[in-house]
Amino acid sequence: MALSLRFSTNAFKGEEQRLRCTGLKTKSIHLKVSSGYRGRAGASLGSGFNTTEIPHQWYNLVADLPVKPPPPLHPKTFEPIKPEDLSPLFPDELIKQEASNDRFIDIPEEVLDIYRLWRPTPLIRAKRLEKLLDTPARIYYKYEGGSPAGSHKPNTAVPQVWYNAQEGVKNVVTETGAGQWGSALAFACSLFGLNCEVWQVRASFDSKPYRKLMMQTWGAKVHPSPSNATEAGRKILQMDPGSPGSLGIAISEAVEVAAMNADTKYCLGSVLNHVLLHQTVIGEECIKQMEAIGETPDLIIGCTGGGSNFAGLTFPFIREKLKGKINPLIRAVEPEACPSLTRGIYAYDYGDTAGMTPLMKMHTLGHDFIPDPIHAGGLRYHGMAPLISHIYELGFMEALAIPQTECFKGAIQFARSEGLIPAPEPTHAIAATIREALHCRETGESKVILMAMCGHGHFDLPAYEKYLQGSMVDLSFAEEKMQASLANIPLLVQ
Ligand SMILES: Cc1ncc(COP(=O)(O)O)c(C=O)c1O
Repeated sequence: MALSLRFSTNAFKGEEQRLRCTGLKTKSIHLKVSSGYRGRAGASLGSGFNTTEIPHQWYNLVADLPVKPPPPLHPKTFEPIKPEDLSPLFPDELIKQEASNDRFIDIPEEVLDIYRLWRPTPLIRAKRLEKLLDTPARIYYKYEGGSPAGSHKPNTAVPQVWYNAQEGVKNVVTETGAGQWGSALAFACSLFGLNCEVWQVRASFDSKPYRKLMMQTWGAKVHPSPSNATEAGRKILQMDPGSPGSLGIAISEAVEVAAMNADTKYCLGSVLNHVLLHQTVIGEECIKQMEAIGETPDLIIGCTGGGSNFAGLTFPFIREKLKGKINPLIRAVEPEACPSLTRGIYAYDYGDTAGMTPLMKMHTLGHDFIPDPIHAGGLRYHGMAPLISHIYELGFMEALAIPQTECFKGAIQFARSEGLIPAPEPTHAIAATIREALHCRETGESKVILMAMCGHGHFDLPAYEKYLQGSMVDLSFAEEKMQASLANIPLLVQ
């Protein structure tokens, strides 16, 4: 027997909640929330903690920085870019957000309404992993894999597509590495009725057919990159017909199509300020969730490709740190095969391989550096977000690089203790968390470690197969390859 009730309470800000009561045959009654709402109760996974609210504003770290980040430069004149230079690629509102100094930016109601499909996301204590590691550390993870596309990427795909739709744009193009960003954008486009075309890095296009099918299910057109559909792709294929591709090449292809078609705009899944901004819903929720259980993180860990999930979780905590309220260490984790923060140089470089985007001051391995095809396709980017590079230079955070076999070893421990099968990208955060938890076992410290678990790996199982069969190898980083790429940076301003 099931019974539906409607009621309103202060706790839910007066909104009507539709609750389904089950279990009436027994003495206990379990209440389950079964529709979209602003305040969310229950719905936790294991030892999960939920906020009562989705944040109504994104947080812009730039407003609180003691030194402002260096401006992007025009790719031809090397002068600071003007907003109109970006107009062929982005809608006006996103250009404004990119350069904004406002501390908070309101999230449009229509975007919030879609966020409610999966937000607030759970904060979970990894008690079983703690037990497995026999550590006194308390490990928490903020899980973004419950979104329709399975990662944090829809947090920015939805507002990006919404702002484009508001300004009458009908077609958007993008790149994707692992396919997580492409599927998030395809999902958002399907909600707002925009056409979506995606260039997927060849290595992932071949190894992750289900991501491609997800994009196609949501109505997107998907090309492998490099492709014959663009000048940038054809040039690469002429030099190397078997190229595994890279995010830099795929960005060149999508940017070229947007720049040449007046009715088409470009969307980026990471790196830019407005993308990092949209992801701050993660950290804002998490601050409240930790406060609610009386915990304060000593260490916050996230993986970095272009840096958006890491920024999303950490930037609001960095704000609180700047206010002197808390003092967590902030630690980024990157793949040993693509270590832009730990091995790259801090210089103005292009965001794409062909050199079409503005020059951004960032940690880079060189815009034509093609990382080896590791399984974490979303971390194969030659550069790091300028804002993250800037705060790294300011000493607000630290970074380390980990090889992929250690990451998958950690992922298996995580899956077998916590249940969730992580995407290859957050396995880097897991491996770094495990290193720290084992260190705590040695020292006896009961540190609170907070980790960004930015996506599930249900479509990445071939990588797990390789690991389980013992055939996964660590792809070592070639210093000479980086040096050759760095020599092609046009303007070396250190
Ligand atoms: C699940 C997942 N995590 C992390 C990343 C890396 O991107 P970012 O550093 O912007 O979070 C990606 C990129 O595709 C991803 O799909």
